[in-house]
Amino acid sequence: MGAASSKELGAYHLVRLPAGASPRSGPAGIFVPWCLPVEHAWPCDPGKVEGFVEKAASALARKFSGRRPRTVWVGMLHPGHGDGWFKRLASNLRGRCLQMFPDSAMPLAEAGSQRPDEAALFCMVGAGGLYAGIASPRECNGFYAGGIVHLPKSAGKSISRAGAKIAEALHHAALHGEPPGMGAHWLELGASPGGMTLELLNRGQRVTAIDRAPLDPRLAGADGLSFFQRDVSTWRAEEKFDALLCDMNGDPLEAFAQVRRLSLYLRDGAWIVFTLKTTGREGMRELQDLHQKVLEQAKAGGLHHLATSHLSGNRREFTLWLRRHHSS
Ligand SMILES: C[S@@+](CC[C@H](N)C(=O)[O-])C[C@H]1O[C@@H](n2cnc3c(N)ncnc32)[C@H](O)[C@@H]1O
Repeated sequence: MGAASSKELGAYHLVRLPAGASPRSGPAGIFVPWCLPVEHAWPCDPGKVEGFVEKAASALARKFSGRRPRTVWVGMLHPGHGDGWFKRLASNLRGRCLQMFPDSAMPLAEAGSQRPDEAALFCMVGAGGLYAGIASPRECNGFYAGGIVHLPKSAGKSISRAGAKIAEALHHAALHGEPPGMGAHWLELGASPGGMTLELLNRGQRVTAIDRAPLDPRLAGADGLSFFQRDVSTWRAEEKFDALLCDMNGDPLEAFAQVRRLSLYLRDGAWIVFTLKTTGREGMRELQDLHQKVLEQAKAGGLHHLATSHLSGNRREFTLWLRRHHSS
């Protein structure tokens, strides 16, 4: 990124970038899950500052209320850290800020209900102090301060941790447009054992799932589900789909070649959610090259790339969002 300096702040890094540089748009962008332009920094130990919440909220109001942020979100520099003291501090600080920005900042209950292009005041608080700035969720690459998503689990059983991954991917999709609605028909490549399938079905979507391996028996006879147990490369579509999800393991370029082949069966504007598996590849350069190859394949196949991110549920993989437009 060409950063002139970098300081660790809990789970985050405070970096000084060259003027005009944007952390997510440069070549290292895929490695930045969430970012915020820090316009207000108060390095301190909040536990040792008497009246911290009041002082912090007054300073934020003085600095930012004129810019009328839509809402205020406060996250933690050390997510999940300690005894909940910082969690309570973050919540109190948010509450006090909302009182101090009465004309503009709305007490939204759910971060995902924001518009992705409406600027919010994001603050991060923790043992390193308070860091804040105004940005839209799309600029930050997430609706929540810090980018960590705690989504309510969809009803019922869970088959694999991948269910949470597609839930996060759909939440994130809203940064770039309207995700597939109720009743949308998904084509799912590499579905076994079926964590993502179940999550989609629980959301009122229909799924045509393909995998060499069987699905979890709990999915047998599920409403809205068709399953083909075979190699994706031998499967031919006979209908059109509203969205495509691919979580196939193995060679990621071969997986994407199947996405491209089957994208011909997608309706105009259909979403594609693709997990780019990076197992066996090491280092920034190699990962960037792999990502670049997928983007080239996407372009050649007329698929419009919206974003790539490393979600909190991703391990050695990235999630890509694309759309197929028939005019492209
Ligand atoms: C990471 S798992 C998928 C997990 C799944 N998304 C879930 O929610 O439980 C990857 C799957 O891709 C399948 N797969 C990989 N290559 C395939 C191919 N060419 N044809 C069919 N299935 C394939 C594997 O059998 C495996 O079940």
